[in-house]
Amino acid sequence: EEHISIAVDGPAGAGKSTVARAVAKRLGLLYVDTGAMYRTVAWLAVRFGVKATDENGLVRLLDEYPVEFRRDATEGTLAVFFQGRDITPELRSPDVSAIVSPLSVHPRVRERLTSIQRDLRKNTGVVMDGRDIGTVVMPDADVKVFLTASLNERARRRAEEFALKGHTVEESEIRDSMAERDERDSSRDIAPLRPAMDAHILDSTGKSIDEVVAQILNWVRECA
Ligand code: C5P
Repeated sequence: EEHISIAVDGPAGAGKSTVARAVAKRLGLLYVDTGAMYRTVAWLAVRFGVKATDENGLVRLLDEYPVEFRRDATEGTLAVFFQGRDITPELRSPDVSAIVSPLSVHPRVRERLTSIQRDLRKNTGVVMDGRDIGTVVMPDADVKVFLTASLNERARRRAEEFALKGHTVEESEIRDSMAERDERDSSRDIAPLRPAMDAHILDSTGKSIDEVVAQILNWVRECA
Protein backbone atom coordinates (compact mmCIF):
# COMPACT_ATOMS: atom_id res chain seq x y z
CA GLU A 1 0.00 0.00 0.00
CA GLU A 2 1.24 3.45 -0.91
CA HIS A 3 1.23 6.17 1.73
CA ILE A 4 0.78 9.76 0.71
CA SER A 5 3.42 12.26 1.80
CA ILE A 6 3.13 16.02 1.81
CA ALA A 7 6.07 18.37 2.39
CA VAL A 8 5.55 21.91 3.67
CA ASP A 9 8.63 24.14 3.80
CA GLY A 10 9.11 27.85 4.27
CA PRO A 11 10.52 30.62 6.43
CA ALA A 12 9.71 31.21 10.11
CA GLY A 13 6.17 32.27 10.91
CA ALA A 14 4.67 31.55 7.49
CA GLY A 15 1.99 29.43 9.15
CA LYS A 16 3.49 26.05 8.24
CA SER A 17 2.58 24.25 11.44
CA THR A 18 -1.01 25.53 11.61
CA VAL A 19 -1.64 24.67 7.99
CA ALA A 20 0.23 21.35 8.00
CA ARG A 21 -1.61 20.23 11.13
CA ALA A 22 -4.98 21.11 9.56
CA VAL A 23 -4.17 19.27 6.31
CA ALA A 24 -3.03 16.22 8.27
CA LYS A 25 -6.23 16.22 10.30
CA ARG A 26 -8.43 16.50 7.21
CA LEU A 27 -6.65 13.61 5.48
CA GLY A 28 -6.06 11.46 8.57
CA LEU A 29 -2.26 11.66 8.23
CA LEU A 30 0.47 11.99 10.84
CA TYR A 31 1.69 15.55 11.30
CA VAL A 32 5.45 15.82 11.87
CA ASP A 33 6.87 19.16 13.00
CA THR A 34 10.59 18.82 12.21
CA GLY A 35 11.33 22.27 13.68
CA ALA A 36 10.35 20.78 17.04
CA MET A 37 13.17 18.25 16.64
CA TYR A 38 15.80 20.94 16.03
CA ARG A 39 14.25 22.85 18.93
CA THR A 40 14.60 19.73 21.11
CA VAL A 41 18.37 19.71 20.51
CA ALA A 42 18.41 23.44 21.38
CA TRP A 43 16.39 22.74 24.53
CA LEU A 44 18.90 20.06 25.59
CA ALA A 45 21.80 22.43 24.82
CA VAL A 46 20.30 25.16 27.01
CA ARG A 47 19.59 22.72 29.80
CA PHE A 48 23.00 21.07 29.82
CA GLY A 49 25.06 24.12 28.90
CA VAL A 50 26.34 22.93 25.53
CA LYS A 51 27.28 25.65 23.04
CA ALA A 52 25.50 25.88 19.67
CA THR A 53 28.94 25.80 18.00
CA ASP A 54 29.93 22.52 19.69
CA GLU A 55 28.86 19.90 17.15
CA ASN A 56 30.37 16.97 19.07
CA GLY A 57 28.73 18.12 22.27
CA LEU A 58 25.33 18.39 20.58
CA VAL A 59 25.55 14.94 19.04
CA ARG A 60 26.61 13.56 22.42
CA LEU A 61 23.49 15.10 23.97
CA LEU A 62 21.35 13.17 21.50
CA ASP A 63 23.23 9.97 22.40
CA GLU A 64 23.07 10.43 26.14
CA TYR A 65 19.58 11.79 26.52
CA PRO A 66 17.22 9.88 24.32
CA VAL A 67 14.16 11.98 23.67
CA GLU A 68 10.97 10.34 22.60
CA PHE A 69 8.69 11.61 19.86
CA ARG A 70 5.39 10.18 20.96
CA ARG A 71 2.38 10.03 18.71
CA ASP A 72 -0.81 11.51 20.11
CA ALA A 73 -3.42 9.19 18.62
CA THR A 74 -6.35 11.58 18.82
CA GLU A 75 -4.51 14.67 17.61
CA GLY A 76 -2.34 12.88 15.07
CA THR A 77 0.65 14.95 16.17
CA LEU A 78 3.96 14.21 17.88
CA ALA A 79 4.76 15.31 21.40
CA VAL A 80 8.35 15.44 22.64
CA PHE A 81 9.07 13.60 25.88
CA PHE A 82 12.22 13.96 27.94
CA GLN A 83 12.61 11.60 30.91
CA GLY A 84 8.89 10.96 30.90
CA ARG A 85 7.89 14.63 30.79
CA ASP A 86 6.17 16.39 27.88
CA ILE A 87 8.50 19.29 26.99
CA THR A 88 6.64 20.32 23.81
CA PRO A 89 5.35 23.63 25.28
CA GLU A 90 8.89 24.67 26.24
CA LEU A 91 10.29 24.33 22.73
CA ARG A 92 9.05 27.73 21.54
CA SER A 93 10.68 29.76 24.30
CA PRO A 94 12.93 32.69 23.26
CA ASP A 95 16.13 31.11 24.64
CA VAL A 96 15.52 27.98 22.57
CA SER A 97 14.57 30.04 19.48
CA ALA A 98 17.76 32.07 19.79
CA ILE A 99 20.13 29.12 19.34
CA VAL A 100 18.14 26.70 17.18
CA SER A 101 19.23 28.14 13.84
CA PRO A 102 22.98 28.36 14.64
CA LEU A 103 22.84 24.79 15.87
CA SER A 104 21.03 23.37 12.87
CA VAL A 105 23.94 24.12 10.52
CA HIS A 106 25.85 21.08 11.82
CA PRO A 107 25.85 18.15 9.37
CA ARG A 108 25.89 15.46 12.08
CA VAL A 109 22.98 17.01 13.94
CA ARG A 110 21.01 17.16 10.66
CA GLU A 111 21.91 13.56 9.78
CA ARG A 112 20.53 12.30 13.07
CA LEU A 113 17.28 14.19 12.81
CA THR A 114 16.81 13.47 9.11
CA SER A 115 17.01 9.76 9.76
CA ILE A 116 14.41 9.97 12.57
CA GLN A 117 12.14 11.94 10.20
CA ARG A 118 12.49 9.38 7.42
CA ASP A 119 11.72 6.54 9.84
CA LEU A 120 8.51 8.25 10.91
CA ARG A 121 7.00 8.00 7.44
CA LYS A 122 7.76 4.32 6.96
CA ASN A 123 4.35 2.94 7.88
CA THR A 124 2.12 5.94 7.59
CA GLY A 125 1.09 8.86 5.44
CA VAL A 126 2.56 12.15 6.67
CA VAL A 127 2.41 15.88 6.43
CA MET A 128 5.88 17.06 7.41
CA ASP A 129 6.89 20.68 7.81
CA GLY A 130 10.33 22.27 8.05
CA ARG A 131 12.99 23.84 5.86
CA ASP A 132 14.46 20.96 3.86
CA ILE A 133 11.58 18.47 3.65
CA GLY A 134 10.93 18.76 -0.08
CA THR A 135 14.62 19.03 -0.95
CA VAL A 136 16.35 16.56 1.42
CA VAL A 137 14.12 14.60 3.80
CA MET A 138 11.40 13.49 1.34
CA PRO A 139 12.54 14.46 -2.17
CA ASP A 140 9.96 11.92 -3.40
CA ALA A 141 7.01 13.58 -1.61
CA ASP A 142 3.72 13.47 -3.51
CA VAL A 143 2.96 17.13 -2.93
CA LYS A 144 5.47 19.84 -2.04
CA VAL A 145 4.44 23.24 -0.82
CA PHE A 146 6.71 26.21 -0.17
CA LEU A 147 4.70 28.47 2.11
CA THR A 148 5.73 32.11 2.38
CA ALA A 149 4.29 35.42 3.58
CA SER A 150 5.71 38.91 3.86
CA LEU A 151 8.10 39.46 6.77
CA ASN A 152 5.73 42.03 8.28
CA GLU A 153 2.78 39.68 8.22
CA ARG A 154 4.82 36.81 9.64
CA ALA A 155 6.06 38.98 12.50
CA ARG A 156 2.54 40.26 13.16
CA ARG A 157 1.12 36.70 13.34
CA ARG A 158 3.89 35.57 15.68
CA ALA A 159 3.32 38.61 17.94
CA GLU A 160 -0.37 37.68 18.10
CA GLU A 161 0.53 34.10 19.02
CA PHE A 162 2.69 35.36 21.89
CA ALA A 163 -0.05 37.77 23.00
CA LEU A 164 -2.57 34.92 23.12
CA LYS A 165 -0.22 33.10 25.47
CA GLY A 166 0.00 36.20 27.65
CA HIS A 167 3.50 37.32 26.59
CA THR A 168 4.09 40.79 25.24
CA VAL A 169 6.90 40.83 22.70
CA GLU A 170 7.69 43.82 20.48
CA GLU A 171 6.73 43.10 16.89
CA SER A 172 9.89 44.83 15.64
CA GLU A 173 11.99 42.57 17.83
CA ILE A 174 10.27 39.49 16.43
CA ARG A 175 10.73 40.83 12.90
CA ASP A 176 14.47 41.30 13.39
CA SER A 177 15.07 37.89 14.90
CA MET A 178 12.94 36.20 12.22
CA ALA A 179 14.83 37.96 9.44
CA GLU A 180 18.12 36.91 11.00
CA ARG A 181 16.97 33.30 11.36
CA ASP A 182 15.69 33.14 7.75
CA GLU A 183 18.96 34.58 6.46
CA ARG A 184 20.96 32.01 8.40
CA ASP A 185 18.68 29.14 7.36
CA SER A 186 18.83 30.19 3.71
CA SER A 187 22.57 30.69 3.49
CA ARG A 188 23.88 27.57 5.24
CA ASP A 189 25.81 25.04 3.15
CA ILE A 190 23.82 21.97 4.09
CA ALA A 191 20.08 21.67 3.45
CA PRO A 192 19.45 25.41 3.14
CA LEU A 193 15.93 26.80 3.14
CA ARG A 194 14.83 26.93 -0.49
CA PRO A 195 11.89 25.67 -2.55
CA ALA A 196 12.30 22.27 -4.22
CA MET A 197 12.23 22.54 -8.03
CA ASP A 198 8.83 20.86 -8.09
CA ALA A 199 7.31 22.76 -5.14
CA HIS A 200 4.12 24.78 -5.36
CA ILE A 201 4.91 28.28 -4.10
CA LEU A 202 2.11 29.55 -1.91
CA ASP A 203 2.15 33.12 -0.58
CA SER A 204 -0.22 33.30 2.37
CA THR A 205 -0.03 37.09 2.81
CA GLY A 206 -3.62 38.27 3.19
CA LYS A 207 -5.01 34.73 2.99
CA SER A 208 -6.95 32.95 5.72
CA ILE A 209 -5.84 29.60 7.11
CA ASP A 210 -8.89 27.98 5.49
CA GLU A 211 -7.98 29.35 2.05
CA VAL A 212 -4.42 28.08 2.33
CA VAL A 213 -5.55 24.65 3.54
CA ALA A 214 -8.13 24.41 0.71
CA GLN A 215 -5.45 25.24 -1.87
CA ILE A 216 -3.17 22.49 -0.57
CA LEU A 217 -6.04 19.97 -0.48
CA ASN A 218 -6.70 20.83 -4.14
CA TRP A 219 -3.11 20.04 -5.06
CA VAL A 220 -3.39 16.75 -3.17
CA ARG A 221 -6.56 15.88 -5.10
CA GLU A 222 -4.90 16.74 -8.40
CA CYS A 223 -2.02 14.40 -7.76
CA ALA A 224 -4.22 11.45 -6.69
O1 C5P B 1 9.95 25.54 12.16
P1 C5P B 1 10.64 26.15 13.35
O2 C5P B 1 10.61 27.65 13.34
O3 C5P B 1 10.19 25.57 14.64
O4 C5P B 1 12.18 25.72 13.16
C1 C5P B 1 13.17 26.18 14.04
C2 C5P B 1 14.53 26.16 13.37
O5 C5P B 1 14.94 24.79 13.18
C3 C5P B 1 14.62 26.79 11.99
O6 C5P B 1 14.83 28.18 12.05
C4 C5P B 1 15.81 26.07 11.37
O7 C5P B 1 17.02 26.66 11.80
C5 C5P B 1 15.72 24.68 11.99
N1 C5P B 1 15.11 23.70 11.11
C6 C5P B 1 15.88 23.15 10.12
N2 C5P B 1 15.36 22.18 9.31
C7 C5P B 1 14.08 21.77 9.45
C8 C5P B 1 13.26 22.35 10.45
C9 C5P B 1 13.80 23.33 11.26
O8 C5P B 1 17.04 23.51 9.97
N3 C5P B 1 13.61 20.80 8.65
